[in-house]
This record gives sequence, C-alpha cells and structure tokens, in this order.
Amino acid sequence: MVRYPCLMAIQSRELSTTAAFDEWASSVRGLVAERDAVILAHNYQVPWVQEVADFVGDSLELSRLAAQTDASVIVFCGVHFMAETAKVLAYDKTVLIPDLEAGCSLAATITADQLRAWKAEHPGAVVVSYVNTTAAVKAESDYCCTSANAAQVVSSIDPDAEILFLPDMFLGAHVERVTGRKMHIWMGECHVHAGIEPSDIDRRFAEFPSAELHIHPECGCSSHAAYLMGEGMLPEGRAFMLGTGGMQQRAKETDADQIIVATETGLLHKLRKNNPDKEFIAANEAAICKYMRKITPDNLRKSLEEMVFEVKVEAEIADRARLAIERMISIS
Ligand code: 13P
Ligand code: SF4
Repeated sequence: MVRYPCLMAIQSRELSTTAAFDEWASSVRGLVAERDAVILAHNYQVPWVQEVADFVGDSLELSRLAAQTDASVIVFCGVHFMAETAKVLAYDKTVLIPDLEAGCSLAATITADQLRAWKAEHPGAVVVSYVNTTAAVKAESDYCCTSANAAQVVSSIDPDAEILFLPDMFLGAHVERVTGRKMHIWMGECHVHAGIEPSDIDRRFAEFPSAELHIHPECGCSSHAAYLMGEGMLPEGRAFMLGTGGMQQRAKETDADQIIVATETGLLHKLRKNNPDKEFIAANEAAICKYMRKITPDNLRKSLEEMVFEVKVEAEIADRARLAIERMISIS
C-alpha cells in the first residue's frame, strides 16, 4: 500500500513509519468498505491522505465525482465549501468532513447578505461566483465557476450584461485579461495565494533560469506574471496560468525538466509522483493552507468510525446553489 513513506514521514508525525501508515490505511479502507463510503481528496491534501483516498482532484473534478458516485457516504478531505458543494450535488448522500474547522479564508470574504447588498447596487447584473464560496452565496449566484473554467463561463455570458465576479480579485483580474470583459470584482483574496509574491517568482527564475512557470490565478504574483508575459520578459510558452488540475495536465505534456509551481505546496506530491523525471520547485515553500491541514490521520478515521461531521445544507439553498453549479458544469 505504501508508496511514499519518506514524504509521509515528513508531513505526519502520527504516521512516521511505513508500518504505521499501512496499519492506519488498512483500518481506514476497512471502514470505507463497511460504510459504503468513498474518500474524495483535494489536490492540496498531504501525501498520506492522497494515498488512502479513492480520488484526488481539483475542485471541479471532485464536484463531478460527488455527483456521479454510487457510494452512500462521501468523506470529503478538503475544506468546508468543497464538502458543501458535494452535498448540494449529491443531496441524498451523507457527506462527512473530518473537521468542521476546515474553512477557507477566501470563501469567508463574502456572505450571502453582502452579496444581496452588492446585487441591489447593480440590478440585473449577472453574478459569477468562484467555487470557493458558501452554498448560501452560490444560491444567490447565476453561475458558479472554478479556476479551471472561469474564463469559459464568463465568455458564455451575454456580452452586454453587467457582471459581478466574486470573491477573488486576482482570479477576476485574470479573467478580465483573458476574456477582454470588464467586470465588477469583489476585493477578496486567499491568504495563502496572495502570499506568493512577485519577488518569489523573480527569485525562482534567477535560481532556475530555464524552468517553466505554472501559476494559480489566485496568486498575488499572477498579475506580475501576466505583466512579464505581456512585456515579453517571460519567453513565449514558458508561463502558464492554471488551476490545480490544469497543472497536473501541463506537467505531463511539457518537455521542460524543471517547473516552478506557484500554488499551495500540497500539489507537489502528485506532480512528483506522476512525473518522476521532472523537478518541481515550490515558488514559495511557505504556501501552506492551514485549513487543508485540518484533516489528520486520527480525525479521518474517526470520521468514518463515528460518522462525523455531517455537512448539511438547507434544501431550499441547495436547490438554488445547484442551479448555479449545474450551469457551470454544462458549459465546461
Ligand atoms: P482548484 O479549483 O484549482 O482545485 O483550487 C481550489 C482552491 O482552493 C485554490 O486554493
Ligand atoms: Fe481557501 Fe486559500 Fe486554502 Fe484554497 S488555499 S482552500 S483558497 S484558504
């Protein structure tokens, strides 16, 4: 079962040996079978979660998997808004999250009340909400989007319509650049991605001059990278603005031997595992999401043992949020 004991040892005090991981993983897999469950893990989860999960993916892939699964129970190893999205799309299933404190600093930047007030200032505007929002905010939205499809969703909207885009300002600026559409953008940010700065990119390029750059559009340095690209200061075809799923794809396709990765460092595990002949360099080693790290070996097992913590969304909110998510899925 164990494939990456060294990485696990670094990232989990509880599972510091191969034997400890094997014992824990087989008890978790036993509970998964007993509960007729499926474990979905986001790309940012630590290696031992990724290794025990049934599926590891980006937020769009995981939404799709939640909607399609035959399992009765979904254990979501990610953050709360992702588990809520799974519940909205698989309403008859039991959705569990091992720790209710697994929040998201970006989703926390806007409430449903704030969105209603913003909409009142722009009657008739089309609301596009990034998936990193609560179900209550999605219920107030016309479209949901992820980093993988935000530009595609915006491009599908009537060119004369006014657009309210929320909550991430860096992703909003990226979508404006790609689509050429002017939007009203909510001034939210993710503290992890905003912390990856232009100086980190400059420093990494100085160290690895021929590396390719993969940058998440939520990053504080994304505008800087776009500027460098626009000015021709990054060689053609060397910098890519991608969601976490797009980074996996590009890593497989590229001929580059070294890739600078500007996003949460949990993504490096799968990149390295799937591409052993390439070197992946974190743009900023400190880009760690403390909310994603709320999932621990103990609370994941306890979640299955005790069937906690159940993620609930009011039916009326789920119905409206589902419309926004389904509109997104039908476009991308
Ligand atoms: P993806 O949509 O690329 O999976 O990213 C989700 C997220 O939380 C980014 O921080
Ligand atoms: Fe939210 Fe940022 Fe963590 Fe992603 S990395 S879950 S946007 S706080």
